[in-house]
Amino acid sequence: MSSQAPLNVLIVASEIYPLAKTGGLADATAALASALAHLGVNSQLVMPGYESAQDQARRLVVTAELPPRAGIGEGRLLSGLMPDSDVPVHLVDVPELYRDGGGLYVHADGSDRLNNPQRFAVLSHAVCDLAMGRLGHAASDIVHANDWHTGLVPLLLQQQRRNHRPGSVFTVHNMAFQGLCPLDQLPGLDIHVEGEAYAGIEYFGQASFLKSGLVFADWLTTVSPRYAEEICTPAFGFGLDGVIAARGDRLSGILNGIDCSIWSPERSPWLPAHYSAGNLEGKARCKAEIQRELGLDMAPDAPLMIFIGRLTWQKMADVLLEALPRLLDAEPDRQIVVLGEGDRNLELGYRELAGQYPGRLAIDVGYSEARAHRLHGGGDILLHGSRFEPCGLTQLYAMHFGTIPIVRPVGGLADTVIDATPAHLADDTATGFYFDNADAPGLLEAVDRAIALYRQPARWQRLQRAAMASNFSWQASAEQYLALYRRLAETYLAD
Ligand code: ADP
Ligand code: GLC
Repeated sequence: MSSQAPLNVLIVASEIYPLAKTGGLADATAALASALAHLGVNSQLVMPGYESAQDQARRLVVTAELPPRAGIGEGRLLSGLMPDSDVPVHLVDVPELYRDGGGLYVHADGSDRLNNPQRFAVLSHAVCDLAMGRLGHAASDIVHANDWHTGLVPLLLQQQRRNHRPGSVFTVHNMAFQGLCPLDQLPGLDIHVEGEAYAGIEYFGQASFLKSGLVFADWLTTVSPRYAEEICTPAFGFGLDGVIAARGDRLSGILNGIDCSIWSPERSPWLPAHYSAGNLEGKARCKAEIQRELGLDMAPDAPLMIFIGRLTWQKMADVLLEALPRLLDAEPDRQIVVLGEGDRNLELGYRELAGQYPGRLAIDVGYSEARAHRLHGGGDILLHGSRFEPCGLTQLYAMHFGTIPIVRPVGGLADTVIDATPAHLADDTATGFYFDNADAPGLLEAVDRAIALYRQPARWQRLQRAAMASNFSWQASAEQYLALYRRLAETYLAD
């Protein structure tokens, strides 16, 4: 095939914004598909047919009946368009698996869904059939699978005839989630792994969907260059560092971008006022508005710190919780807003603190896209401790909104935030603050440094402008994916 013919790329993920989202995976997959479309790729998306996805996708029609797989007799493929672009999207509609009123991965009461292996095996079979052209749609040149939910896709594709199947790319957004199930469950999922293939999915006596993706994909990527190095080491590999290191010659780190048509201080539909690096006045209005909205003291000069994210160990939500009283006690005007949900115990801990610092601490245990935008708009400082961070989008959004991130320099945080050292401040390249130790003293010390600078408005504004000038558009990253797809397509496609 000619190297310049448009490529058919099928991107599969368990969440895609705005159809369904619990974290950055959703933002990244949606934005990549649309950036690829701008580069002339025929990019199509496929995901489970959750209720929220069926509600929002446009022009959905049934385009295929799905063959029975993994113990499920009936299913349909619905095909339509994304809500705010012309990117095609396919929904694997199996009501008993994806439309039972619960969350994406947990039941309505928060307990784990025990049938996740079946839910994502069914998705993977449907994707393989779709990509192979068996469901009445054109065959794909490349299938791009994301995270453990789609880790069986590369295995299923590898079991097709070589040169008669699409190439596969598997992107790791998070090594911590591995998709484990008993090995003897595999035949019931219509996953057959004899001989060498068995070793490719076996993980300490269980089956790992993540390992399957890592072993069987034609190419691996992860979402920042630094994380690509880190996951080859025991400290970040969650037991799979050896598996990844063995495939190190087929691993790339490609940084996520941000979708500036959605995440923009000049355009966001959720901000009470708009602003830009050239004119930051609107940011002061956003701050006043969020202070009012959350019952904080209406103090324009008070340093307003925000946390937005999953309340989990990864995000150091335990350390922040421990540090909060000292963080607030250090100076009488400090303000903090926490927006997040996650581990039940941490949620409880945060809830208990609410009300203890009237006018200075607001705790919102929940999920709100609109409030996340308003916090980026009104905040001064983003608290973003992470024990590991594959890329991190929150710090990118914050910088774009002129909210200065305090981060641990791991993974994508190290690749995207430039520490406010004296040298970086002097040449106006600094965009945030680093702290090394994943503990409360480390965080507190960085907050002190940040607030000291915040109290020097002229210097702070220079920092804000540098952060807002950072370029995190998807264009460059999408070009790297496209170059990778083309290389693979030439290897795997039939003539
Ligand atoms: P991760 O995917 O590890 O959770 P990212 O920083 O890549 O981290 O992406 C998190 C995404 O989820 C961002 O778009 C962030 O705004 C959003 N998010 C997380 N928690 C919440 C919440 N409670 N309310 C609104 N948005 C949230
Ligand atoms: C994951 C990671 C996060 C990354 C996101 C999108 O959820 O934890 O760091 O930004 O995926 O790739």
